[in-house]
Amino acid sequence: MGSMAARAKAPTVDEVRGALHRLFIGVRGTALRKEDEVKAVELAAMLKELSRFRRDALLVDAAAGKAPVGLLAAELLGFARIAVIERDAGRVEACREAAARLTRRAEIEVRHADVGDLGAWPEAPDVVAALHACGFAADAVIDAAARARARFILLVPCCYGKGVAFAGGASKWATLMGAPRQGAVRRRLLDALVDAERTLRLESYGYEVTVAPLVSPTVTPHNLLWRARRAVEPRAMERARASLEQLREALGA
Ligand SMILES: C[S@@+](CC[C@H](N)C(=O)[O-])C[C@H]1O[C@@H](n2cnc3c(N)ncnc32)[C@H](O)[C@@H]1O
Repeated sequence: MGSMAARAKAPTVDEVRGALHRLFIGVRGTALRKEDEVKAVELAAMLKELSRFRRDALLVDAAAGKAPVGLLAAELLGFARIAVIERDAGRVEACREAAARLTRRAEIEVRHADVGDLGAWPEAPDVVAALHACGFAADAVIDAAARARARFILLVPCCYGKGVAFAGGASKWATLMGAPRQGAVRRRLLDALVDAERTLRLESYGYEVTVAPLVSPTVTPHNLLWRARRAVEPRAMERARASLEQLREALGA
């Protein structure tokens, strides 16, 4: 991930709170909203991950919302090249307004697009961050980032529901396994199957993957971080493909 000299120190939660207020609120005498306080903790953890990369790395903030990850990476870590991909026009506009308040120079390309649209992705970015990519967006980020040959992917999926790629498969498998109907138990089983399919899919694309909590589950229940490094090791990819096939075949899919 580059030399120490080219990397920045991870910001504290207080520094993140200050920058969030400056960039996204900007009105003196006002406080962060309760949800922004929670967001500050998640962002500080994501920025700590990004602080391991060189500042000249090309960062993609995918399913970016107003792009707090990308913009704070510029403001607090000194990242100089950022591509933002977000499909919601209002959030894109809010991102552009916040980018104009940055106190550090950075090349910010804001792309109003679906993350599944490969044309919106730069070629071979150094790192893709997708914080709380909701539903199918997490699947689309995995597929598109791999096709763009991203060197690293930092993915924190958000809600799991009918829209996610393996939702139908997971539900079918849970039924075949005789899973109970109680929602709280069944939900966890289905989410774990979706997580398993996503992990194997990343590995089958040539990524070395670790999965660990980004923040405590008391901050958010959607707290798992997929850290994926492009390794392209043929035997590992073959093993992952075989496991993925096994998982899908179990459903007759
Ligand atoms: C829960 S928000 C998270 C935003 C931001 N990453 C953050 O942590 O604050 C998810 C964002 O993903 C965007 N999104 C969902 N599906 C998308 C897609 N297919 N392409 C692009 N953006 C998408 C939504 O519009 C929303 O802004």
